[in-house]
Amino acid sequence: MESTGKPHAVCIPFPSQGHINPMLKLATLLHRKGFHITFVHTQYNRTRLLESQGDVSLPDFQIAAISDGLPPPPDDGNAATQDIRSLCLSTQVNCLEPLNELIDGLNHRSSCVVPPVSCVVYDMIMSFALDAAERIGVPGVVLQTAGACSFMCNKYLTHLVEKGFVPLKDKSCMTNGYLETQIDWIPGVIPLKLGELTHTIQTTDPNDPLLNFVITQFARSSKAAAIIINSFDALEQNALSSLSSICPPIYTVGPLHLFLDQPPKNPTAKSMTISSLWKEDTTCLKWLDSKPERSVIYVNFGSIAVPTPQQMSELAWGLAGSEENFLWVVRPDLLRRENPAALPPEFREETGERGFVSGWGPQEEVLRHPAVGGFLTHCGWNSVVEGVSAGVPMICWPFFADQRINCRYVCDEWRVGVEMNRDVERDEVGVLVRELMGRERGGALRRRAEEWREKAAAAAAAAVGGDGGGGSSWLKLERLVH
Ligand code: UDX
Repeated sequence: MESTGKPHAVCIPFPSQGHINPMLKLATLLHRKGFHITFVHTQYNRTRLLESQGDVSLPDFQIAAISDGLPPPPDDGNAATQDIRSLCLSTQVNCLEPLNELIDGLNHRSSCVVPPVSCVVYDMIMSFALDAAERIGVPGVVLQTAGACSFMCNKYLTHLVEKGFVPLKDKSCMTNGYLETQIDWIPGVIPLKLGELTHTIQTTDPNDPLLNFVITQFARSSKAAAIIINSFDALEQNALSSLSSICPPIYTVGPLHLFLDQPPKNPTAKSMTISSLWKEDTTCLKWLDSKPERSVIYVNFGSIAVPTPQQMSELAWGLAGSEENFLWVVRPDLLRRENPAALPPEFREETGERGFVSGWGPQEEVLRHPAVGGFLTHCGWNSVVEGVSAGVPMICWPFFADQRINCRYVCDEWRVGVEMNRDVERDEVGVLVRELMGRERGGALRRRAEEWREKAAAAAAAAVGGDGGGGSSWLKLERLVH
């Protein structure tokens, strides 16, 4: 049978929520532009998705699954993100073979319904997929789901090793102030402390598998046909211009979620935008409807971070003491038996109607809700981009990976947020929340946040008619597709 002539992209996200979301958005945009899509989850995540969303496949947007090579996690009824270190190391050795088989199967079945595979789009840290693309002679395209600034820092890990900063000489470096060393020579990146770079540098082992994994993944990005970043030019100009001299062509097509707010050209085309691995609890939206404009601080730490019970308690009493309205998302897996980060029982009585504690929720919608006036965030890149796009000022409480870099940009470069001490204390939480929601400090942050919201919207704005310009990300997306 003849093929449809449509391009066919096989999309392979890293198997955690913060990576699946932007990949699914990109895949949805490519689908809207006429691509046939095969979206490749791990079997573990596909099962979770089936449980939370049901079967979401479309005839020309198929969900496939390959094994991640890890033993199944214990089934305690509260599915959680798998251990990231294990996933990084396992996917690298175990996923290429099943991916090759999957692609061979797709090409073998290619027909009027399934066109032959024409490109492989893979997450920066799933670089084995480049081998799969090269094997069948199609372009392999990287999606960097975090920012250009953290991309540049990871690219420069090799220089940190060559200059002797990494691995750490011994364990005392963790506590003797060594991690405070200023690193001000990464091109296009603001000065950062050594300890603010990815946590993978915090090892004394020269053969640390995770450190070597990260170095290899970012080095291999040079071999890709193109690199897509969920960012926009105005946001990370300097890092992007430094990257452009050492990388394949870069397409900054963010904020990806803003494109999906625009109606598709073919309004009857079904959309595939839901990717939550947890069932979404939307009851908070009704509660938000009952609150005055900009009166609620939204608290959420993404899909991986696990605060300690002590931190949860300090946060809870800090929010209670702030006297402000708050919406706090507490993931179901935080309340597991072996991690009893449960909230103090008296806390709910104390805060009453002023607070709403929710399960996994519709974050983008929440951030856009007129009642939300601030965001207490762990600074995962998606959360930062979603917060910037919504014009919401932030309190930053970073944990690991790129989050401390993102925090510095939010606070020092874009100046739309303030940082919270790592050892969270209730009094500080109360003060920061009041300041963020208040007139003086909060007002200045809100004004800048509004400016950044406008810049983000301008980047994603579609061209109007034949000669209507179009934003930087819109133009890059058009070029990428062509
Ligand atoms: C991880 C890393 O921690 C992060 O630093 C990296 O940049 C991407 O991968 P995660 O910690 O989950 O991501 O945070 P984040 O990047 O913010 O992604 C979370 C995503 O889940 C966001 O798109 C957010 O909108 C969504 N989300 C979160 C929900 O839809 N509902 C929620 O209740 C919480």
